[in-house]
Amino acid sequence: MAIATSTVTSSRHRHLGPPIPAEGDNGVFSESWFPICLSREIPPGEIIGVDFLGGRVVAYRGATGIAHVMSAYCAHLGADLSVGDVQGESVRCAFHHWKYHPYGVCESTKVGDPPPPGACLFVFPSCERYGVVFAYNGEQPRFAVPNFPYPDSELAISTSILPKVTPTDPWVLSCNTPDMQHIKALHNISFDGDDPHDRVEWTDHSMIYDFKGRHAQGQPIEYRVGIYGTNIFYQSGTIEGRWFGAMTPFGLPKPGQTRVFAIIAARKADGDEVSTSTFLKAVTELEMQVVREDLPVVNSIHFRPGTLTRSDRTLARFFQYLRDYPRCHPSAEFIV
Ligand code: FES
Ligand SMILES: [Fe+2]
Repeated sequence: MAIATSTVTSSRHRHLGPPIPAEGDNGVFSESWFPICLSREIPPGEIIGVDFLGGRVVAYRGATGIAHVMSAYCAHLGADLSVGDVQGESVRCAFHHWKYHPYGVCESTKVGDPPPPGACLFVFPSCERYGVVFAYNGEQPRFAVPNFPYPDSELAISTSILPKVTPTDPWVLSCNTPDMQHIKALHNISFDGDDPHDRVEWTDHSMIYDFKGRHAQGQPIEYRVGIYGTNIFYQSGTIEGRWFGAMTPFGLPKPGQTRVFAIIAARKADGDEVSTSTFLKAVTELEMQVVREDLPVVNSIHFRPGTLTRSDRTLARFFQYLRDYPRCHPSAEFIV
C-alpha cells in the first residue's frame, strides 16, 4: 500500500527585515509625549508617583492648578517625593523637608542649611490635554499632542486607563494603525476601493490617513486614523451620523511595557447631556471591542519585521519611520 507523504520545501532561513530599536536599547527612548496620569488623579495639592521610562517620576498639581512632572527621587538621599507633599507650587520631601520649586531647584531645607547648588530635580516638559497629563521625553518638544478638530469648550470628554499593562513597547501597538492587512483580517473591516496607502500623510513625527469602508455587519464607516510620535493613536469619525474623537496615548512605564490610556470625545452640541454620556459610553465600548480583538495578539507577540507583501506597503514605511525616529533620555541620571 502506498503511503501518502507530504513534501515540504523550506529555505531553512527566516527572512527578517532590519530590526526596529526596542525602547531602552542603548539607554534611549522615543522622543515623544507620553501619558503619565489622568488629570483627575491629581487634584490641586496632590502628588503621585508613576513609573516612567524604567524609572520613577512624580506628577503633582500646585495651588495655581498647573500640573508638573518631575523626577521622583530627592537630590538629598533619594526619598521618593510621592510620599512628600505639595506646598503652594512647590514639593516638600517627607524625609528632611527639603523643598523644590516647580522648575526643579531646591529652595530650602528644614534645618536651615543652604541647599547645595547641584540639588535639583529633572523637570519634564509637560502639558495637559483632554484630561490626561503628558510628559515629553526630550529637552524641547518637537510637536504638540494632537488636537481634535473642535474647540475644547465644545467637547465632552471621557478618559480611562486600561487596567492591565500590555507586555510590549508602545510602538508595537502603534504598528497596528499602518497595518492594513490586520484592519481587514483581524478587525473584519473592508475598505471602499483600494487600500488607502496613497492617502497616508507623513511628517517626521506623524502619519495619518482617511478611509471609508464597512464593518463586518455592513455598517458604513468613515474614519481618520493616525499615529503621533511613536505612541499616540488618533482617530476621529462619525458613528450613526454623530462625530466622535478617540485618542489612545500609550504610556511607557518601563522597556517592554505599555499602559493604554483612552480619551473619547463627543460634541456637546450634538445631543443633550444624557444622550452625550450614552454616546461616549457606546464609543468607548466600540473602541474597547477593537482593543479586545488586538489584545491576544499584542499580549503574546514576538514582534519583528519579517516577510512582507504589497498590502504591507504603509506598514513597511512605518517601520522605516520608527527606525529613523529620534531617541534620547535626558532624565536618565535623575529618574533611575
Ligand atoms: S531625602 Fe529628601 S530631604 Fe533628605
Ligand atoms: Fe488593531
